[in-house]
Amino acid sequence: MSVSKAVSSQFSSQNSIENRLQIQRLVEATRIVAPSAGSDVVKGLTQTPKSLPPAYFYDDRGSELFEQICELPEYYLTRTETAILKQCAGAIAKITGACELVELGSGSSTKTRILLDAYNQLGYPLRYLPIDVSAGILESSAKQLLADYPSLQVYATAGNYELALAQILPTQLPNRMICFIGSTLGNLKPQECDVFFSQIIEPLQVGEYLLLGVDLQKPKNILEPAYNDSQGVTAAFNLNMLEHLNRRFQGNFDTTQFEHSCFYNETEHQIEMHLRSLRSQIVKLDALNLTVNFAASETILTEISRKFNLDILQQQLTTQGLIPLNVWTDPNQWFGLLLCQLQRA
Ligand code: AVI
Repeated sequence: MSVSKAVSSQFSSQNSIENRLQIQRLVEATRIVAPSAGSDVVKGLTQTPKSLPPAYFYDDRGSELFEQICELPEYYLTRTETAILKQCAGAIAKITGACELVELGSGSSTKTRILLDAYNQLGYPLRYLPIDVSAGILESSAKQLLADYPSLQVYATAGNYELALAQILPTQLPNRMICFIGSTLGNLKPQECDVFFSQIIEPLQVGEYLLLGVDLQKPKNILEPAYNDSQGVTAAFNLNMLEHLNRRFQGNFDTTQFEHSCFYNETEHQIEMHLRSLRSQIVKLDALNLTVNFAASETILTEISRKFNLDILQQQLTTQGLIPLNVWTDPNQWFGLLLCQLQRA
């Protein structure tokens, strides 16, 4: 695969932002060369019930909307995890020592600053490898971080986790920690989780770390408003997936003819987010040579967001060789942050 690298160094200062930033764009390269691009959309829209992969939420607009979701009063996840991180970042830095931070789904990297501050305070070198599907948000947040941390080096990768993890080079620092915070693990089905853990282990040496943030099981009356916010930002985020598909695959989804629908499935311990067709309609995605028939009220499952039980998750991690060293939660036990160490390859 051809990977375009944008490494700029036209400024003379050794410490300039451009000299400390490297961006790899796996996204465009993948779109051009992967013959299977869009096969996941075809598969999801031709099966019953219909579904779409949540990765299609995150074009630049979707990433912006997700940043807005994180600020919503009903969406307790981000502020709860941030509060936990503020409490334990110093302890994490002491346990891992000097450490390269690899962050999956880095977005605006807001929470990363708490970790960077903790490593900075201990005098450790700062090396950050953010990975995100949105090249736009990756570049703007990397530049902001570099402006704020004069000794930081950033090696950013725009692409999906699988490709990005597979091409990470050995670290130059004594340790590496992969950060997968924000409960994005919850967006994977249980069988996808196992595959994901095996991919995460690849770039880690025995003794290195995974920092995992997960949303925990709690009553429906707290969970459902978090995904059905009063300002309609989550609805816009959900519907934006159809705009993204229109642009990417020459589609003609009419977003006014679908609505956001979301509920907590208490048996599966997961939020399920759907798009419901408001009438019977036919949609075409020309680049995929696909015609899709929707019945009135038919839904597309766009996302699951699983809510975890800490004991079960710790057992699962241990089975994968990722031993939980410390688990931090908030006073309500709504969210969990786990620091795991790889004990076998
Ligand atoms: C990214 N992920 C953890 C979010 C979640 O809560 O599952 C995505 C999201 N979907 C709707 N709101 C937020």
